Amino acid sequence: MTQTMAEGLVDTGHGGLIAQDWNQLTFRVNREAYRSAEVFQAERDRIWNHNWLYLGHETEIPNKNDYKVRTLGGKPLIFVRGGDGVVRAFLNSCPHRGTVVCREEQGNARNFQCFYHAWTFNSSGKLSALPGDDAYAELERFKGTMDLRPVAKLDIHEGFVFVSFDPDVPPLLEHLGEAADVLSMAAEQSASGMTTLPGIQRYGVKGNWKLAVENAMDGYHFAPTHNTFVGYLRETGFPVTDDDQYAHDLGSGHSMLVLTGHNGRLGMIWEPRFGEAEKERTRLNREAMAERLGQERADEIGDASRILFVFPNLLFFDLEALTIRQLEPVAPGRTDVRAWQYVPVDEEPDVRAMRLKTMTSFVGPGGLATPDDIEAYEAVQRGIEASKGDTRGFNDWSDMSRGMERESKGEKGRSIDEGAMRSFWRHWDKSLGKVSDATATEYGSGCE
Ligand code: FES
Ligand SMILES: [Fe+2]
Repeated sequence: MTQTMAEGLVDTGHGGLIAQDWNQLTFRVNREAYRSAEVFQAERDRIWNHNWLYLGHETEIPNKNDYKVRTLGGKPLIFVRGGDGVVRAFLNSCPHRGTVVCREEQGNARNFQCFYHAWTFNSSGKLSALPGDDAYAELERFKGTMDLRPVAKLDIHEGFVFVSFDPDVPPLLEHLGEAADVLSMAAEQSASGMTTLPGIQRYGVKGNWKLAVENAMDGYHFAPTHNTFVGYLRETGFPVTDDDQYAHDLGSGHSMLVLTGHNGRLGMIWEPRFGEAEKERTRLNREAMAERLGQERADEIGDASRILFVFPNLLFFDLEALTIRQLEPVAPGRTDVRAWQYVPVDEEPDVRAMRLKTMTSFVGPGGLATPDDIEAYEAVQRGIEASKGDTRGFNDWSDMSRGMERESKGEKGRSIDEGAMRSFWRHWDKSLGKVSDATATEYGSGCE
């Protein structure tokens, strides 16, 4: 960066798909990053195959032999609690000839039987039945090599289960860095513990996965895109504001917005639409939290909303309610999304009902925010077709320069700037490196 500033050059990162100019204080992303099949494949190879990926929460499979199937980075997996109570993840692919072994979405099963030749595996992955086994030489040795293939790494932080396909990935806590404590702040919110609810929101978006990351780290769009919601909150007496709200680069591509003026939080920050009964309950809850965790920690957890992004596929929304969201890129212009509600185990039914209603009114697929957001990133994906192949200046580049001047002075990043996006893109660029000469488009006269 220093060299770039001294020489007045544009820093084009590792692969030529970002252009960062510390003289002009501009930051741009080449739109091939959202469109190119080659970039998509390079992401699968270099990011998804070599990072920790969020798989699910251990409370999704509370009982022995509970399982879910799930796809990460295009790989079908079985997420299962074995008969021994241990949480594991296996490639959902038969060691015999590769068939998908478990074709149900979820359930409870002591065994998984492959339908093709009926090889059977127990819920701990062990090959338990092999029809016609007399035709195999050295049978015991052979059987010992044919258990379900586990993922290379699995580790759990506060119930959040992460896996990696790379056996040499650094330890999970090292990867999570400061993001680990943000997840702990969520897990500590109830003395009774926190759990996911069984229902799931699942939807497909016609947009690149990175647009979903940008959108979540983009406080700038909140007031214009969600003006219906902002108007509704103001009408109900909540003073929505963008003041005093910040974006934090947590390192390793993780980032976080800390928000105080966008919404109340059930049990933490009361707002009028929660009703009078909830006001008193919130006061008591905050008192109990301070007693349990100490005033400082209770305030740290309770006083602000947070939107956390853990590179590359986990978004955690600690807003009116708590939502875990997982991104699964399917194609350059297609992303599958799964979302779960994360709630206190021991919560009064009326509070739980209000939590779910409040959540769906905002981040639900029929709420006042998420459909707007999805429309925004689908509109970006459609719009960027217009400048494809246009090599004039920066016509085919997206701009994320907002707040670069503050950043260059080392000032704290505001949530309404684009610093959290820039830190994501810098890490993405570093992880991806050079894709090919074809994707590193030429700059036109605009950056000379
Ligand atoms: S492919 Fe599964 S038993 Fe043959
Ligand atoms: Fe939004």
